Amino acid sequence: MTPNSPIHSHASMPRTPAIDSRLPRVGTTIFTVMSALAAEKGAVNLGQGFPDFDCDPQLVEAVTGAMQRGLNQYPPMAGILALREAVAAKLAALYDRNYDAGSEITITAGATQAILTIILAIVHPGDEVIVLEPCYDSYVPNIELAGGTVVRVPLTPGTFRPDFDKIKAAFSTRTRAIIVNSPHNPSATVWTEAEMLQLQDLLAPTDVLLISDEVYEHMVFDAYLGHLHQSAARFAGLAARAFIVSSFGKTYHVTGWKIGYVAAPASLMAEFRKVHQFNVFTVNTPVQHGLATYMANDQPYLELPAFYQRKRDLFRSGLENTRFKLLPSEGSFFQCVDISEVSDLGENDFCHWLASDIGVAAIPLSAFYGDGFDQRVVRFCFAKKDETLHLALERLARL
Ligand SMILES: Cc1ncc(COP(=O)(O)O)c(C=O)c1O
Repeated sequence: MTPNSPIHSHASMPRTPAIDSRLPRVGTTIFTVMSALAAEKGAVNLGQGFPDFDCDPQLVEAVTGAMQRGLNQYPPMAGILALREAVAAKLAALYDRNYDAGSEITITAGATQAILTIILAIVHPGDEVIVLEPCYDSYVPNIELAGGTVVRVPLTPGTFRPDFDKIKAAFSTRTRAIIVNSPHNPSATVWTEAEMLQLQDLLAPTDVLLISDEVYEHMVFDAYLGHLHQSAARFAGLAARAFIVSSFGKTYHVTGWKIGYVAAPASLMAEFRKVHQFNVFTVNTPVQHGLATYMANDQPYLELPAFYQRKRDLFRSGLENTRFKLLPSEGSFFQCVDISEVSDLGENDFCHWLASDIGVAAIPLSAFYGDGFDQRVVRFCFAKKDETLHLALERLARL
């Protein structure tokens, strides 16, 4: 086949117009840099937060079955009803709050799309959104894309607990929302009931909305100590103003499927859907059907805390043989360590050295702060096969 011949411009050389970047400060993220370095150096990649093991074959069968039954065309804009009902049933069972599957739950292309869509739906230019640093890397660019102003409040260095005096001081008449993430990436802390109640009291006299990023909701450890996931759904005063975001990718070891959901009161959800329908419109059909079938069994998510707690304990007990100081890992699939006894390097240089010379990739916590605050702490992800964790620990034992 001969291609059509190109049309030449007579006027001048063709030129791609320059544009003013909407996100001038965004470059290649540390996650990409560290993963590339890990691949180049043959390092065990405990940097990026995703499993290196496969999901339950029954989930793959459920999705494959849906495809084979011809469920391959556009689903409803908000997601298939069966999946929204399964999510509503789960929220009622776990957090004792009833969400209407018709008007209060929407299936999204992962939590990332959910959060961007929420922000685009609620933030007007000049509105302020409070983020608690360190924070997941999409929040700040999302707010900037909406024309909002980012107001950064640090979690307490060392413990990563919320400082309510600082949060309160950050409120202004322009505050539109606050983003809370528990269990927390990167620090692996979990907000307590008392902290959620404090947040509820703080928000009560305001019109500030809550974006509650709960993607690690099923990974809270040490239940014997009474630790539980404190979903915003549990608190009437928070639920009334909250967009609750979760990710099937995290819960079912299928991060590449990019599917999650948002739950919110109907009036907030109506605005969310206005943006969602012109953003992705909807999310792929067979995965939704497969998940709806699979969710009939609650065991996979009920068993998840024990599954990851065992990996956490395996990893932590190996790290006890190093000079890393272990921070608590209360939830999520991350373990943070203080590196100050191991090295004089800053976090970034340390992570480069660790990947190149020791053969293990980690992420510097400074990557989660706007100003690159360096507190000599790095994050490992333990959502890995035991053999991967053992190999990493063997290498880290040299420290
Ligand atoms: C705190 C937090 N929120 C949101 C996401 C994104 O989730 P998803 O893969 O469903 O878009 C992640 C993924 O790493 C995360 O850690």
